[in-house]
This record gives sequence, structure tokens and C-alpha cells, in this order.
Amino acid sequence: MRTLDDLIKVGVKGRRVLVRSDLNVPLSKAGEAGGKLTVTDDGRIRASLPVLVRLLEHGARVIVAAHLGRPKGEPEPQHSLRPVADRLAQLLGRPVEFALDTVGESARLLADGLGDGELLLLENVRFNAGETAKDEAGRAGFAKALALLTGGEEDGGAYVDDAFGAVHRAHASVYDVAKLLPHYCGGLVRDELSVLKRLTESPDRPYVVVLGGSKVSDKLAVIDALLPKVDRLLVGGGMCYTFLAALGHEVGGSLLEPDQIQTCGRLLDQAGDKIVLPTDVVIADRFAADAVTEIAKIDEIPSDRMGLDIGPDSVRLFAEALAEASTVFWNGPMGVFELAPFAAGTKGIAEAVTTAKGLTVVGGGDSAAAVRALGIDENRFGHISTGGGASLEYLEGKTLPGVAVLEEI
Ligand code: 3PG
Ligand code: MG
Repeated sequence: MRTLDDLIKVGVKGRRVLVRSDLNVPLSKAGEAGGKLTVTDDGRIRASLPVLVRLLEHGARVIVAAHLGRPKGEPEPQHSLRPVADRLAQLLGRPVEFALDTVGESARLLADGLGDGELLLLENVRFNAGETAKDEAGRAGFAKALALLTGGEEDGGAYVDDAFGAVHRAHASVYDVAKLLPHYCGGLVRDELSVLKRLTESPDRPYVVVLGGSKVSDKLAVIDALLPKVDRLLVGGGMCYTFLAALGHEVGGSLLEPDQIQTCGRLLDQAGDKIVLPTDVVIADRFAADAVTEIAKIDEIPSDRMGLDIGPDSVRLFAEALAEASTVFWNGPMGVFELAPFAAGTKGIAEAVTTAKGLTVVGGGDSAAAVRALGIDENRFGHISTGGGASLEYLEGKTLPGVAVLEEI
């Protein structure tokens, strides 16, 4: 893969460089902070800075393309990147031009008007249906228009992919546009891939993986792929209840995917004692910060209660496994950490991960945001990945389209 270093070496002064960044950050809800949407966790913006700064310092004219949320191919005000532009300008300490569209008149005028060392952020690329179209033909027009914002190859245009969190998407701004311009791998993508490579190739043992999050169906493929490679797989979060149901436990009103119970049962049979499930959970009468809560053993969840976090006994059990680990990968919260009564499980596991001896990797925008929201120092982890889906797909052994296309020279 050609890297940013290669691009800098050939020279970028005066050239328009399209950079795909992952700026998909959580925003405050409308109604909070006086109705103005603001960025509540800027981790991904900060992770995107080094590549942008390096290009700007070398005199490039930088055009940043990014997505936010999952709008359906047309403008949706609540998914505008405007608040991100403001935060980006603050962090860069220089002005950020913001286009009101993706490849329309506003974007074209601002791109043409860029001076050396100036930066333009385009509006959310998912406001254009061509970004996420399933077939290549559907994406081609949008990819071409994006590439043209740089003037095209003849005019010195280049493409840098630094959006690690989106490399598993075969989208126009991640995949197709790379075929139209000289393309380079950004430093964030390079660093993330090198850490994940260490996890897959020769992890120091014991290798312990912690998985959480709500949907078990999203995680079955990665569990299948990881089971032969790990020494322990600790399962918490909303996804653990389908496993508990597979063991015959009553889970009350907890999250449950009935059509996955059988598969979870098969994985448990296959895993021997590798899969470790919670022994107790925090139950509540409803999903709310002021709900009535209680700790219950996993075989004593009443039918009118729901589990919303792992319990203290489970934290202790998981922490023991983590204390002995020499490699840890953690993806997904253990409970509804956004609500105070259900945050202790995730916080306990985050703390426990930092006690492991060797490489510790936190995978995913949500888990990383959880770590920061819970006030845990990021530097206590070996690596905090900006990509959840992307790192899981890498660990599954899948081809990541956004990486594969960079490898084609
Ligand atoms: C993420 O948040 O995981 C990345 O930004 C990718 O977003 P997506 O899952 O909506 O494609
Ligand atoms: Mg996501």
C-alpha cells in the first residue's frame, strides 16, 4: 500500500487532496444545550487530526469527506456535519470551510477556491444516495463527482483513506473513489491495521476477548472465528441473555433474540469452558435512570424484570480472567452504561482490562466513547480503536473493501 509518507514525498503543495475521515461522532440530543447540536465525544475527530495537519503543513488543499449517522440518501438536518466542522476547527486551531452539500455547487465552489494549506469539510456524504448504493453502477456517479472536486488525477488530485471505522463499507467515498485517483493509506488506518494484525497473528497468551453490546446476531460470526484462537471469551451486555436462555435460564424482559438461541447453544457446546457468561446481573423494573434495581443470580431473574448490566460477582469473575491475560481485545459495553445505575459493569471491566499485562485493545467507537464517558484515562489502554464494525470484521478474517482497494496500485 502507498502511504501518506509516499504522497508527502512526491509533494502535495498546491494539490487538492481528498481525505476520507471517520468523523461519525455522538452528538447531543436536540433540546439539550439550548437546541444547538454539539459533539459529545470527539475521539474520532482527534484521531483524524494527524493526517490532516500533516497535509496542511505541507501546503495541500485538503477536502475532507465523512459521514454521520445513517441518513437515507438525502439531507437530514439532525445528521449535518456542521457541529463536527466547528469542533474540527477548534481542535485544528485554524478555520474550516464547510460545504452545504456533498458534490453540489457549494462544494465545487469552495473546493475550487481553496488555497494552499486550507481545509474544506463536505456535508455528510450519506446525504447522497450514491454513497451507499448496493451496486457499483449506483455509486459510480457520486464517486466520480467526489474525485472531480480534486480536479482529477491530471490536475494533481489524490485520495487518502484515513477512515478506519468505515473501511468495512464498500461505499463510494471509501471504495469507488480510490479507483479514480492516486490513492494512499492514512496513518490512522495503518496503525489500526498493525495492531489488529498482532491480535490475529501471534497474540501472547492467555488471549482473552470480552464482548458486549446489544445484538448477539451481530457478533455470532466473530465468535465463531475467535473461538479457536482465544483462551477465554467473556460475554456480557444485552447479547448475553440469548446465551443465558440457551442454557435454559428465564431472562424475563431482558434483550433476547429467540431465533439465535439455538446457535448460541451450539457455540456453548463447541466452546467447552472458553465462553464465560455472567453469574449475576443488575435487574430493573424498567429501562430508566430512576428504575428500581436489584442484583439477581442468573437463574433467578423474575419474569417482570429485565437485566440491564452484569452484576458485581460477574465483574469479579471476568476481572480474574483479565488479570491473568497477556493479550486482551474488548468490544461492547457490559450494560446500559449511559444510565448511572447500569454503568458499574462496564466501568469494572474497563478497569480490569487496564490491569492485564500485555497488549490491551479497546475496539469500537461505542466502547471507546464509554471509556471516556466513564472518566477512565485512555492512556491506560494499549490501543483504543476508532472502528467497532471494522475491527470485528478484520478479526473475523473478512476482506475489508476500503483496505483491499488501497492495496491495488
Ligand atoms: C461506525 O460508527 O462504526 C463507523 O463510523 C461506520 O458507521 P456505519 O456502521 O454507520 O457504517
Ligand atoms: Mg457503529
